[in-house]
Amino acid sequence: MKLYIDSAVIEQVREIASWGILSGVTTNPSLIAKAGGDFRDTIVQICDLVQGPVSAEVTTETAEEMFRDGMEFSSWDPAVVVKLPTTIEGLKACSSLAGKGIAVNMTLCFSPNQALLCARAGAAYVSPFIGRLEDINQDGMGIIADIDEIFSKHKIKTEIIAASIRTAYHVTQAALAGADIATIPHSLFSKLIAHPLTDSGLVQFMADWRASQQG
Ligand code: G3P
Repeated sequence: MKLYIDSAVIEQVREIASWGILSGVTTNPSLIAKAGGDFRDTIVQICDLVQGPVSAEVTTETAEEMFRDGMEFSSWDPAVVVKLPTTIEGLKACSSLAGKGIAVNMTLCFSPNQALLCARAGAAYVSPFIGRLEDINQDGMGIIADIDEIFSKHKIKTEIIAASIRTAYHVTQAALAGADIATIPHSLFSKLIAHPLTDSGLVQFMADWRASQQG
């Protein structure tokens, strides 16, 4: 499973990219609004920082508007992936953009049927939202596993991005459930690498080494 950061904050993307583990970035209108910068500048700067796809989401409502905006976003950088909502208008725009060879990430996906329709519309990626399903007492990871099973059974190449990841355990669960990618908030990355036994083991190694050097 590849790891993306779910952030529109340049410094956060730069920091995690420097770890050498990052395969891409997702943004959404809420994250762009929170980060506060110009939308296009933010996306272009992120594309310069990361070797991999960078999702930029439309904020228009009709298929024609989404197609127009998607065409524009994809002209900003070859790494841009156009992010569209999982609606009928989104499906129409996805099909049109995919017909032009443009990679689309279908977001706000909450069911295997939605994911299947997104795949049939030519989406390169589909993003089931784990945390938001759990917020309403539904099994987010079960949706990932079901989509993975359907895509495997029917040889569908659309990649599954586990989104709305809220905990370190979600990352493990998403990998086990068959997600191709997990898009993870900045605050979780340090929790993925931290382990008290790594820390105490390293302290011991260093102490033993220093003692052996003191003759
Ligand atoms: O990638 C989608 C993600 O940003 C949504 O996360 O925590 O707002 O449900 P959340």
